Amino acid sequence: MYEKIPAGFFTAFDRQNSLLYNADDYEERKLSDLQGCFVAEEIRHQMALQENKTVYRVYKKTAPLVAGELLQAVTVLFPGTVNGEFFMTRGHYHIHPKCAEIFFCLGGRGLLLLQKGNETKWVEMKPDVIAYIPAGWGHRTVNTSLAGPLVFIAFWPAVAGQNYQRRLKEPFGKRVFQADRSYVIGDGD
Ligand code: F6R
Ligand code: ZN
Repeated sequence: MYEKIPAGFFTAFDRQNSLLYNADDYEERKLSDLQGCFVAEEIRHQMALQENKTVYRVYKKTAPLVAGELLQAVTVLFPGTVNGEFFMTRGHYHIHPKCAEIFFCLGGRGLLLLQKGNETKWVEMKPDVIAYIPAGWGHRTVNTSLAGPLVFIAFWPAVAGQNYQRRLKEPFGKRVFQADRSYVIGDGD
Protein backbone atom coordinates (compact mmCIF):
# COMPACT_ATOMS: atom_id res chain seq x y z
CA MET A 1 0.00 0.00 0.00
CA TYR A 2 2.86 2.40 0.83
CA GLU A 3 5.66 0.68 -1.12
CA LYS A 4 7.12 3.87 -2.66
CA ILE A 5 7.99 5.38 0.71
CA PRO A 6 11.00 3.98 2.62
CA ALA A 7 9.61 2.26 5.70
CA GLY A 8 11.82 4.07 8.23
CA PHE A 9 10.48 7.45 7.14
CA PHE A 10 6.76 7.28 7.62
CA THR A 11 3.93 5.94 9.69
CA ALA A 12 0.20 5.95 8.95
CA PHE A 13 -2.95 5.88 10.98
CA ASP A 14 -4.66 2.60 10.11
CA ARG A 15 -8.23 3.76 10.61
CA GLN A 16 -9.80 0.38 9.99
CA ASN A 17 -7.77 -1.36 12.70
CA SER A 18 -7.32 1.75 14.86
CA LEU A 19 -3.53 1.46 15.15
CA LEU A 20 -0.31 3.08 14.00
CA TYR A 21 1.06 1.39 10.89
CA ASN A 22 4.88 1.01 11.07
CA ALA A 23 4.91 1.41 14.86
CA ASP A 24 7.76 -0.41 16.60
CA ASP A 25 6.67 -0.32 20.23
CA TYR A 26 3.41 -1.31 21.90
CA GLU A 27 1.99 -0.87 25.41
CA GLU A 28 -1.24 -2.12 26.90
CA ARG A 29 -2.61 -0.72 30.17
CA LYS A 30 -5.19 -2.74 32.05
CA LEU A 31 -7.22 -1.88 35.14
CA SER A 32 -4.54 -3.62 37.20
CA ASP A 33 -1.99 -1.02 35.99
CA LEU A 34 -4.10 1.96 37.08
CA GLN A 35 -3.73 1.78 40.82
CA GLY A 36 -4.66 5.06 42.51
CA CYS A 37 -6.16 6.68 39.39
CA PHE A 38 -9.87 6.37 40.22
CA VAL A 39 -11.74 7.61 43.31
CA ALA A 40 -13.24 4.15 43.77
CA GLU A 41 -9.86 2.44 44.25
CA GLU A 42 -11.33 -0.64 45.93
CA ILE A 43 -13.82 -1.15 43.08
CA ARG A 44 -11.01 -0.78 40.51
CA HIS A 45 -9.07 -3.40 42.44
CA GLN A 46 -12.02 -5.81 42.41
CA MET A 47 -12.61 -5.19 38.69
CA ALA A 48 -8.90 -5.87 38.04
CA LEU A 49 -9.13 -9.18 39.92
CA GLN A 50 -12.16 -10.22 37.90
CA GLU A 51 -12.27 -9.14 34.25
CA ASN A 52 -9.19 -6.86 34.24
CA LYS A 53 -10.28 -4.96 31.14
CA THR A 54 -7.79 -3.25 28.86
CA VAL A 55 -8.20 0.49 29.43
CA TYR A 56 -5.86 1.71 26.68
CA ARG A 57 -3.30 0.73 24.09
CA VAL A 58 -0.38 2.82 22.86
CA TYR A 59 1.32 2.22 19.48
CA LYS A 60 4.60 4.09 19.36
CA LYS A 61 7.21 4.90 16.72
CA THR A 62 10.57 5.21 18.38
CA ALA A 63 13.51 7.45 17.43
CA PRO A 64 16.93 8.06 18.96
CA LEU A 65 16.40 9.66 22.38
CA VAL A 66 18.49 12.73 21.61
CA ALA A 67 17.77 16.45 21.23
CA GLY A 68 16.06 17.32 17.96
CA GLU A 69 14.36 13.96 17.44
CA LEU A 70 10.58 13.47 17.80
CA LEU A 71 8.46 10.59 19.01
CA GLN A 72 4.90 9.76 18.04
CA ALA A 73 2.24 7.43 19.40
CA VAL A 74 -1.39 6.57 18.80
CA THR A 75 -3.40 6.03 21.99
CA VAL A 76 -6.64 4.03 21.86
CA LEU A 77 -8.54 4.68 25.10
CA PHE A 78 -11.47 2.29 25.43
CA PRO A 79 -14.92 3.17 26.76
CA GLY A 80 -15.81 2.27 30.31
CA THR A 81 -16.07 3.48 33.87
CA VAL A 82 -14.98 2.54 37.36
CA ASN A 83 -18.07 3.20 39.44
CA GLY A 84 -19.18 5.95 37.04
CA GLU A 85 -15.74 7.60 36.64
CA PHE A 86 -14.71 7.42 32.99
CA PHE A 87 -11.69 5.41 31.86
CA MET A 88 -8.55 7.54 31.68
CA THR A 89 -4.82 7.30 31.06
CA ARG A 90 -2.44 7.28 34.04
CA GLY A 91 -1.28 10.80 33.17
CA HIS A 92 2.25 12.15 33.53
CA TYR A 93 4.54 15.16 33.52
CA HIS A 94 7.51 15.29 31.20
CA ILE A 95 10.82 14.89 32.98
CA HIS A 96 12.43 17.54 30.80
CA PRO A 97 10.81 20.86 31.84
CA LYS A 98 11.02 22.38 28.36
CA CYS A 99 9.17 19.74 26.36
CA ALA A 100 5.71 20.47 24.99
CA GLU A 101 3.47 17.97 23.17
CA ILE A 102 0.70 17.94 20.56
CA PHE A 103 -2.35 15.63 20.54
CA PHE A 104 -4.37 15.31 17.34
CA CYS A 105 -7.75 13.65 17.89
CA LEU A 106 -8.54 10.94 15.33
CA GLY A 107 -11.81 9.58 16.74
CA GLY A 108 -14.21 9.46 19.65
CA ARG A 109 -14.97 11.96 22.39
CA GLY A 110 -13.01 12.90 25.45
CA LEU A 111 -11.24 15.43 27.59
CA LEU A 112 -7.58 16.27 27.90
CA LEU A 113 -6.85 17.37 31.46
CA LEU A 114 -3.87 19.67 31.98
CA GLN A 115 -2.32 20.32 35.36
CA LYS A 116 0.31 22.72 36.65
CA GLY A 117 0.57 23.35 40.38
CA ASN A 118 -3.00 23.99 41.58
CA GLU A 119 -4.21 25.02 38.16
CA THR A 120 -6.30 22.64 36.05
CA LYS A 121 -7.37 23.24 32.46
CA TRP A 122 -9.10 20.98 29.98
CA VAL A 123 -9.61 20.66 26.25
CA GLU A 124 -12.55 18.86 24.66
CA MET A 125 -11.25 16.16 22.35
CA LYS A 126 -13.22 15.26 19.24
CA PRO A 127 -12.12 14.37 15.72
CA ASP A 128 -9.79 16.95 14.15
CA VAL A 129 -9.09 18.86 17.39
CA ILE A 130 -5.39 19.56 17.80
CA ALA A 131 -4.56 20.12 21.46
CA TYR A 132 -1.37 21.81 22.57
CA ILE A 133 0.24 20.82 25.86
CA PRO A 134 2.66 23.55 26.87
CA ALA A 135 5.96 22.53 28.48
CA GLY A 136 5.62 21.86 32.20
CA TRP A 137 1.95 20.81 32.21
CA GLY A 138 0.89 17.35 33.35
CA HIS A 139 -1.52 15.65 30.96
CA ARG A 140 -4.11 12.89 31.16
CA THR A 141 -6.89 11.94 28.73
CA VAL A 142 -10.38 10.71 29.58
CA ASN A 143 -12.83 8.91 27.28
CA THR A 144 -16.19 10.63 27.94
CA SER A 145 -18.23 8.41 25.63
CA LEU A 146 -19.37 4.86 26.18
CA ALA A 147 -20.07 4.57 22.44
CA GLY A 148 -16.48 3.89 21.38
CA PRO A 149 -12.77 4.53 21.93
CA LEU A 150 -11.10 7.91 22.10
CA VAL A 151 -8.24 7.78 19.60
CA PHE A 152 -5.51 10.38 19.23
CA ILE A 153 -1.96 10.72 17.99
CA ALA A 154 0.69 12.46 20.08
CA PHE A 155 3.96 14.07 18.94
CA TRP A 156 6.63 15.09 21.45
CA PRO A 157 10.41 15.61 21.75
CA ALA A 158 12.41 12.43 22.16
CA VAL A 159 14.25 13.83 25.18
CA ALA A 160 11.02 14.59 27.13
CA GLY A 161 10.76 11.42 29.25
CA GLN A 162 7.69 10.64 31.39
CA ASN A 163 7.38 11.06 35.14
CA TYR A 164 4.48 9.04 36.57
CA GLN A 165 5.24 9.81 40.23
CA ARG A 166 4.81 13.58 40.14
CA ARG A 167 1.01 13.25 39.83
CA LEU A 168 1.00 11.84 43.36
CA LYS A 169 2.38 15.16 44.69
CA GLU A 170 0.78 17.37 42.05
CA PRO A 171 -2.48 15.52 41.28
CA PHE A 172 -4.96 16.25 38.54
CA GLY A 173 -7.46 18.70 40.03
CA LYS A 174 -10.50 17.41 38.13
CA ARG A 175 -12.22 14.07 37.69
CA VAL A 176 -14.72 13.14 35.00
CA PHE A 177 -17.90 11.19 35.71
CA GLN A 178 -20.74 9.74 33.72
CA ALA A 179 -23.95 11.81 33.77
CA ASP A 180 -27.02 10.82 31.74
CA ARG A 181 -25.67 10.73 28.20
CA SER A 182 -22.83 13.13 28.89
CA TYR A 183 -20.24 13.87 31.56
CA VAL A 184 -19.69 16.06 34.61
CA ILE A 185 -16.37 17.42 35.74
CA GLY A 186 -15.88 17.07 39.48
CA ASP A 187 -13.13 18.07 41.84
CA GLY A 188 -10.08 15.87 42.03
CA ASP A 189 -8.04 14.71 44.99
C1 F6R B 1 3.60 10.87 25.49
C2 F6R B 1 2.16 11.04 25.79
C3 F6R B 1 1.17 10.01 25.27
C4 F6R B 1 0.83 9.10 26.46
C5 F6R B 1 -0.28 8.07 26.20
C6 F6R B 1 -0.55 7.18 27.42
O1 F6R B 1 4.37 11.85 26.13
O2 F6R B 1 1.76 11.95 26.48
O3 F6R B 1 1.63 9.27 24.19
O4 F6R B 1 2.01 8.43 26.86
O5 F6R B 1 -1.47 8.74 25.87
O6 F6R B 1 -0.71 7.91 28.60
P1 F6R B 1 0.26 7.67 29.87
O7 F6R B 1 1.66 7.81 29.35
O8 F6R B 1 -0.11 8.75 30.82
O9 F6R B 1 0.01 6.29 30.36
ZN1 ZN C 1 3.42 13.31 27.40
